[in-house]
Amino acid sequence: MRILVTGSTGMLGREVVEHASRGGHDVVGTSRSGEVPADITDRDQVERAVERVHPELIIHTAAWTAVDDCEGDPERATAVNAAGTEHVGRAADRIGARVLYVSTDHVFDGTKASPYVEDDRPNPQSVYGTSKLAGERALGPHHTIARTSWLAGLHGSSTVRTVLDLARRQDTLTFVDDQIGNPTFVADLAPALLELGVAGHPGTFHLTNVGTVSWFELAREVLAAAGLDPERVRPIATSGLEPPRAARRPANAALATTASSHLGLPVLPPYRRALEELVAQLQARGVG
Ligand SMILES: NC(=O)c1ccc[n+]([C@@H]2O[C@H](COP(=O)([O-])OP(=O)(O)OC[C@H]3O[C@@H](n4cnc5c(N)ncnc54)[C@H](OP(=O)(O)O)[C@@H]3O)[C@@H](O)[C@H]2O)c1
Repeated sequence: MRILVTGSTGMLGREVVEHASRGGHDVVGTSRSGEVPADITDRDQVERAVERVHPELIIHTAAWTAVDDCEGDPERATAVNAAGTEHVGRAADRIGARVLYVSTDHVFDGTKASPYVEDDRPNPQSVYGTSKLAGERALGPHHTIARTSWLAGLHGSSTVRTVLDLARRQDTLTFVDDQIGNPTFVADLAPALLELGVAGHPGTFHLTNVGTVSWFELAREVLAAAGLDPERVRPIATSGLEPPRAARRPANAALATTASSHLGLPVLPPYRRALEELVAQLQARGVG
């Protein structure tokens, strides 16, 4: 299949391009300054790139993902995450391509007592979440939305990398124990996204690795996987963070993968093996 991947320099986009190429797809990655430039805030540039590549499927991973910075610049968040997605959808519709848009757990307010299912009512509490939800709503119902959460991978920043960095510099590490979610590893997510995109089911799907933990528990697991003492991690409440984070995060960010399971689509494995592999890869590269 001919596939265009937006955000191909990002943590997830890079993995999707690599995985799709290995799988024999004809894949072109776009970024703001690459061979096929596509700044998604520029409607004309997006249309030119999409017409030139002429894909059957666009896996749209590009976004402004700096959750706290988005609070200070809602216009930019809207331009990239909402209008940018609208431009991608329009360009796709002009050539009859399908879009698979990667969205986020931040569209929910986190007050539910159990994992969020696909048709739970979104109620974002941050500029980032609001802009990503506007991106979802900018796409026609014939396209596909895949919400995921707490991403980690070899390239780019993630909590796994942060924990290893901090462990090298300080004795004790502090992570919140009142926000829970599903750590998801791009090495597992990329193949599942590709399968969902190729299958072409329209609608909204949750795609995460299996397993729900707090950031505190995740940090302990990272240290254990690195052969370090997990007791070095101390729990703290979100309200005790100093300075407080600019953006509110959902206390419960857990996503149930109900829709994909019903359709027999891929369900990602438990996260632990991917976590151990990533920690080993990062350590081999001198992180931590
Ligand atoms: N990270 C998470 O924990 C998480 C959780 C749930 C959902 N998601 C979603 O998953 C997707 C991938 O996240 P990620 O962590 O891989 O993101 P990332 O590493 O921050 O990469 C974002 C990508 O978007 C590109 N981009 C930013 N602004 C752009 C613009 N105006 N035009 C074109 N490209 C632009 C960046 O390019 P430059 O290199 O040029 O900046 C980069 O390639 C995003 O849609 C995000 O909302 C992420």
